Amino acid sequence: MGGSVEGSVGLDLKQSGILVIGGSGGIGSALVDRLCEARATRIVVTSLRPSAAGAHRPGVMVESVDVAELASVRSLAERLKGLDISVVINCAGVNGNRRLRAGDALEIARREMDVNVFGLMNVAAVFAPLLAGRGGGTFMTVLSFLSHVNLPLMASYCASKAAAHSLTQALRAEWRHHGVKVCGVYPTAVDTTMSSDLQGPKQSPADLAANMVAALAGGDEELFPGDAAAAHAEWMRNPKEMERAMAAAVQG
Ligand SMILES: NC(=O)c1ccc[n+]([C@@H]2O[C@H](COP(=O)([O-])OP(=O)(O)OC[C@H]3O[C@@H](n4cnc5c(N)ncnc54)[C@H](OP(=O)(O)O)[C@@H]3O)[C@@H](O)[C@H]2O)c1
Repeated sequence: MGGSVEGSVGLDLKQSGILVIGGSGGIGSALVDRLCEARATRIVVTSLRPSAAGAHRPGVMVESVDVAELASVRSLAERLKGLDISVVINCAGVNGNRRLRAGDALEIARREMDVNVFGLMNVAAVFAPLLAGRGGGTFMTVLSFLSHVNLPLMASYCASKAAAHSLTQALRAEWRHHGVKVCGVYPTAVDTTMSSDLQGPKQSPADLAANMVAALAGGDEELFPGDAAAAHAEWMRNPKEMERAMAAAVQG
């Protein structure tokens, strides 16, 4: 995807209150930069650590939240009361990069599930009703191409992203009729610290951010940005072949 940000159909970014959860991360901060370029003026950015989100962008409000804790998400919503948030973009996530044979695989998997799966449920439980209550809005989550096929080098991360993808489908079913557009983003590797151990081509965070902003403005429900479009088509053509290709990295 690409094209003009301004003048797109659907969402008027300049008029919207936009919450970027995980906005201190590689993808989140590129997204905030792109939203600023698109002249969005009411942006709230959150990180897990209170000082991580960077106050370097004028007009961007900085908050902290732990998505794994429902009380923390509720408290964030309370602090944002009156801002008329109409777009919630969840870029928060963790990847322990563990295969199932690792000694600490269970502990790592629990944290990935807490943030990537229960974190999504917590954010949706608090913000989807608020979006519906104001007459509608957009709820976007950064999932992964690996929501569709497991890369055993990061097995439990992929499982968490598959679960989050499934929840995203259910959220769409629950909230569509209340005016909430639920959107999933499915990138392949993106060049951030999260993927620093991974070899091979990576999409730049700036490029992904441009794709996401275009998808927001255009109202897409699913976005396969950059190389993810071809990877998804390939997976649809022969899922078993792709499963075998992913498995090859841990065989022997
Ligand atoms: N990088 C890739 O190759 C890639 C590919 C596909 C999908 N994704 C997904 O894209 C999203 C963003 O990834 P990224 O590459 O930007 O990773 P990143 O640079 O590591 O950023 C992760 C973000 O999540 C926040 N976070 C972590 N745990 C949190 C929690 N419990 N509560 C609230 N915020 C929390 C971090 O806050 P702090 O800064 O305070 O720690 C940071 O803002 C993730 O969901 C990831 O799974 C990434």
